[in-house]
Amino acid sequence: MLIISDYLVIGTGVAGLSFALKAARHGTVNVICKRAIDETNTNLAQGGIAAVLGDDDLVEYHIKDTLESGVGLCHPETVQVVVENGPRLVRELIDMGVPFSASVDHPDRPELGQEGGHSRRRIIHAKDMTGQAMQKSLIEKALSEPNITVYEHFQALDIIAEDRHGLPAAIGAYVLDIEKERVATFGARIVVLATGGSGKVYLYTSNPDGATGDGLAMGFRAGARAANMEFIQFHPTCLYHPAARNFLISEAVRGEGAILVDKNGQPFMKNYHPLGDLAFRDIVARAIDAEMKKSGAECVFLDITHKDPAFIRDRFPKIYSTCLALGIDMTAQPIPVVPAAHYQCGGLLVDLDGRTNIQSLYAIGEVAATGLHGANRLASNSLLEALVMADQAARAGRAEIANQPAARSARLSQDLAWPNGRLGRTPKEAVVIAHSWDEIRRFMWNYVGIVRSDYRLKMAADRLALVKAEIEEFFTGHEVGADLIEVRNIAQVADIIIRSARTRRESRGLHYNLDWPNRDDLNFKHDTILAEA
Ligand code: SIN
Repeated sequence: MLIISDYLVIGTGVAGLSFALKAARHGTVNVICKRAIDETNTNLAQGGIAAVLGDDDLVEYHIKDTLESGVGLCHPETVQVVVENGPRLVRELIDMGVPFSASVDHPDRPELGQEGGHSRRRIIHAKDMTGQAMQKSLIEKALSEPNITVYEHFQALDIIAEDRHGLPAAIGAYVLDIEKERVATFGARIVVLATGGSGKVYLYTSNPDGATGDGLAMGFRAGARAANMEFIQFHPTCLYHPAARNFLISEAVRGEGAILVDKNGQPFMKNYHPLGDLAFRDIVARAIDAEMKKSGAECVFLDITHKDPAFIRDRFPKIYSTCLALGIDMTAQPIPVVPAAHYQCGGLLVDLDGRTNIQSLYAIGEVAATGLHGANRLASNSLLEALVMADQAARAGRAEIANQPAARSARLSQDLAWPNGRLGRTPKEAVVIAHSWDEIRRFMWNYVGIVRSDYRLKMAADRLALVKAEIEEFFTGHEVGADLIEVRNIAQVADIIIRSARTRRESRGLHYNLDWPNRDDLNFKHDTILAEA
């Protein structure tokens, strides 16, 4: 089956759908997602979008905070473009009808929240369900747009690239139609990866099950370069409860005054940084890790009981009700929390318009390394980046299509059949897949987590080499199904993370290596760039 459009967008979070809506003004857009349209990282985002809208705020202040958080590795021109365009794109969302929380004093303006590392209140939010509110509006708009066709339960396997004058160019993707158990070929003049992050590479994560680094793995296999993948952000405060998987306790809770305490109720963050509980995330996550290792405790606690219960219930309805359902009343008792993998600050290296080094292949949102985050992302800068880069890429994609030779579309009409393996829902040896998943996620957590060492990284590399080879053999020799595609991608991403981490022989931002505990600007004040070929 061959399905052709001007644009193929892989992923339906804020980056993918924002791009699709803009591209649909000029061409046909096929959007594919491997699960339901709303099963995205965006949908789980609680905190909000950082943008300069406050009377006491300036673009320069937001830029300064972002650069400081990124510990010398942000690309200043990217930071400038993203921060400058934020307020305009947030206003577009307001016009689209996204129900952001309104200021009590000025009901015609959004309420501005506070998060770690921000010198001003600038987090636009919809209570504690910002992503969900945005996702809902974007889906409604996308589904009513005649130029957009959405394919749910269609899982991309690999990018199709052709050789153009000795350089690779994307012309589509092989996609597993999960329900019909067959591989379709999607041809497009522009292919956009908006697949989100890769939290599922780690045992504990705030991410949904689908966050398996698919776009990064597919792009890398096709020859796109990856940058800065050693910088994995661990969110300091995920709920610690046997019945809760992946549930985040938003940084906004600390923004509104919550403090981290140990099991005896003692605050500890001031011992680690003058900004205390609102220090940058790498510092808070490492401090919690150190406290847990020191005391042997399984978690620390987040205490906001000193605030008015009515305020807590109104500001954090989702967190309050989720905790209460698990027997934790956050108005009266501290919440047990642990750090968990949350965000990949690196990704496919792109320019300011979201272009990878493969012609016609773009990457936007968490899958991309734009240079905004450097060695540590500032809270709530990710939804902002997704909005801005979708806008930039839509403009660049339109210009590229206008300049593409006509012969290109003729080539797309040739059926490029999936060349690899047989297909089916359940491989006979499903245990191999389940075991590989578990093994990778466990050694990544233990050896390539918040604190690393040369020895731990080597152990991880050795183990991964074996598992990755087994998965590749399985992939080519057996029936291909959704789980196998994901575990193959997880192994690919783990490989990129480990190789990147071994290259950086210093500690900076989110990458902390016990054998190289200091920052080394002389040798490492640059991106870590990897290429497959
Ligand atoms: C949060 O609500 O703490 C997450 C926000 C973010 O990761 O930017």
